[in-house]
Amino acid sequence: MNIARFPEGFVWGASTSAFQIEGGTSADGRGPSIWDDFAGVPADACDHYHRYRDDVRLMKDLGMAAYRFSVSWPRILPEGAGKVNAAGLDFYERLVDALLEAGITPYATLYHWDLPQALEVRGGWPARDTARRFADYAAIVAARLGDRVRTWFTVNEPWVAAFVGHGSGVHAPGRRSAADAFRSAHHLLLAHGMGAQALRAAGAAEVGAVLNFSPVLTPAQVGDFDRPLSEEDAEAVARIDALVHRQFLDPLLRGAYPADLLPVIEEHAGLGHVHDGDLAVVAQPLDLLGVNYYTPAVVQAQPGEAADPAFPGSAGVLFSTIPTAVTAMGWPIVPNALSLLLRRLTREYPGLELMLTENGADFVDTVTPDGIHDVDRVQFIEEHLRALRTSIQEGANVRGYLVWTLLDNLEWADGHRRKFGLVHVDFETQRRRPKDSALWYRDVIRRNGLTEVPPKRPTLETVAARARVSRATVSRVVNGETSVSPEVRASVLQAVKELGYVPNAAARSLVTRRTDTVALVLSVPRNAADPLLPAVVQYVTSLLEGAGKQITLMLADTAESHRRIVRHAEARLVDGVVLLPPERGDTLAEHLSRTGVPLVLLGRPPVSSLVPYVEADNVAGAAAATEHLLATGRRRIGMICGPMDLVATQDRLAGHRAALERAGLRPRLAIGDLTRASGTAAAGQLLGDSPDLDAIFAAGDQMAIGALRAARAAGRRVPDDLAIVGFGDIDAASATTPALTTVRLPVAEQALALARLLLSRLEGRSTAPVVLPTRLVVRESA
Ligand code: FCB
Repeated sequence: MNIARFPEGFVWGASTSAFQIEGGTSADGRGPSIWDDFAGVPADACDHYHRYRDDVRLMKDLGMAAYRFSVSWPRILPEGAGKVNAAGLDFYERLVDALLEAGITPYATLYHWDLPQALEVRGGWPARDTARRFADYAAIVAARLGDRVRTWFTVNEPWVAAFVGHGSGVHAPGRRSAADAFRSAHHLLLAHGMGAQALRAAGAAEVGAVLNFSPVLTPAQVGDFDRPLSEEDAEAVARIDALVHRQFLDPLLRGAYPADLLPVIEEHAGLGHVHDGDLAVVAQPLDLLGVNYYTPAVVQAQPGEAADPAFPGSAGVLFSTIPTAVTAMGWPIVPNALSLLLRRLTREYPGLELMLTENGADFVDTVTPDGIHDVDRVQFIEEHLRALRTSIQEGANVRGYLVWTLLDNLEWADGHRRKFGLVHVDFETQRRRPKDSALWYRDVIRRNGLTEVPPKRPTLETVAARARVSRATVSRVVNGETSVSPEVRASVLQAVKELGYVPNAAARSLVTRRTDTVALVLSVPRNAADPLLPAVVQYVTSLLEGAGKQITLMLADTAESHRRIVRHAEARLVDGVVLLPPERGDTLAEHLSRTGVPLVLLGRPPVSSLVPYVEADNVAGAAAATEHLLATGRRRIGMICGPMDLVATQDRLAGHRAALERAGLRPRLAIGDLTRASGTAAAGQLLGDSPDLDAIFAAGDQMAIGALRAARAAGRRVPDDLAIVGFGDIDAASATTPALTTVRLPVAEQALALARLLLSRLEGRSTAPVVLPTRLVVRESA
């Protein structure tokens, strides 16, 4: 077997954190932490406080060489400062000794988010004093364990602690203040610096910090990292990168805040909390940088978008979704963004030693009596390890890989819902059972590498093909639905057995929690003049009803209605959403797609997003109309166009312009809003400005009808001395005298494609946009 090996001595292991696994929150004198009640579930977690020996044995059995754990500050200092709880120190001493005895190197993190409640009461991280208290705490722990723990991490993911804890308030202590968030960030950095000094004074061999990394990309860059960006998108990317990454990297490694971030900090929090000399303290020599990577951040410029409270200063930046595979957390899986990240760190901060201190995934595991099957997790880790290996070959200095995480645990605000462990924990009994991924990881460690060709696993498709049924049917059978006939069930189960298929998240998500309801969301008032709408609604409704779905019609006309619709999707009251039609400046589609509910759009979305859509080829239709006018000898062609915030009208203008340009002509424009009255006004304006005009192309047929009226009023004969062409409303265009030449939209075809697209999305298939041809219909008016 060919092995893709890692460098000799590469360190394999796992990471955990105190609050997430220990339990024993009031055992042996531990004080309360800010997380004890915040999670909303009892903080018994995995009872690791009492079962640590079993857990060390588990790691030993899996062959792990390193274990990163965190020390619980309130276990050492129940009041945050002052009186030391000897029993707390004893616990970590026992843990470290057990690790060393098992041949596992301890990596200790001093702060993984569980601030003593007593310090929160005294101001928490927004208060400078907390940094000093941290240094005292670091000295106390190092004095006891420094002879056995070589490598210390001060703080874990200070961005999350500061901005999710104090900006969005999703994490403890649940504050929502940009000023508190920026001050917390600075004091966490200061705590690192002061803590590092204390650790060194106590003889620590190596001091590092752990940061969270989410390479910031636009949706289009996710598939092509080198894609050039518009100025606006580049600015949006840089702004988020400064907040999440450079805010911490630059003070730690360069002793300064990034110049582009300082004004943002100043605007939200002032700079009074940054004292002279602080940054020199922060920039202690760093022996090791811990890199936590799960998923990229996908953003793009979007004027008018409100700032996300976790990212103060992010107004005008839209956080976007991308149609990649996601974990159960909804986090896009983009392994090669890890290579991108490591390449960047190697280039920008040369000489720095790195360690992957967290990487892993939440998936819904298949728990059976004969084992816990988690193919998705194996695949996730394997793909990330391949990306990591590539980076190492390119020259990144990476000491090791610590998977997040050993045990299913208490995932902060998400409680026990999330399963990140290699080892399954039954929280009723605290029984631990290694999942398939744990056994697979053990083999990776043993080989110090990956098998060269990833073994081909049977998929839902393979089973469906073997059993000669659809993917949805396979999914129903493996999910135990009763709606399948016994014969079909038997043949599917037979195929499952023969192929050794293990159901994964895709299979399960096809049928779980189905409501058989689909929301049809309309932004009607804005587009009342669009003739397409009623027809599409009628067709889509009957097609989806024919497929057994109930339709809920929802109107998106106010900000409140947008929020209501998003909440409806978040609560999973619908299986899917059809949204029509998007306008510029409208981010409902993005917000909906972030809920994870399958979504399809009628019309190309206004901001670049990879949500699938159905569109008529407006560009080609407008070009054909314009070319027809040119072919019939017209040269002085005006266009009445609008409203300009509709994507479809923008496209019609683009097609018109392109055709004129090819003929060496320049456009003459007047703006309307698709209504008849606006057509009369706009055409009147064009005819007034350019009496020599010989043709008018209207972006809509109602506007064209208005233009006919304006022509008559101006004494122009149609088509003899003025040709008029409309767009999109074949019925209205047939009823005029003379009948209008127009561009026919494939209404029924669009509705059909939309319904099909949604049904495929509901089956879990990935889908591409559909653009349908339009057709020029020539009548008397041109
Ligand atoms: C990281 C945290 C860790 C865990 C994972 C999923 O941000 O450091 O405790 O919650 O995410």
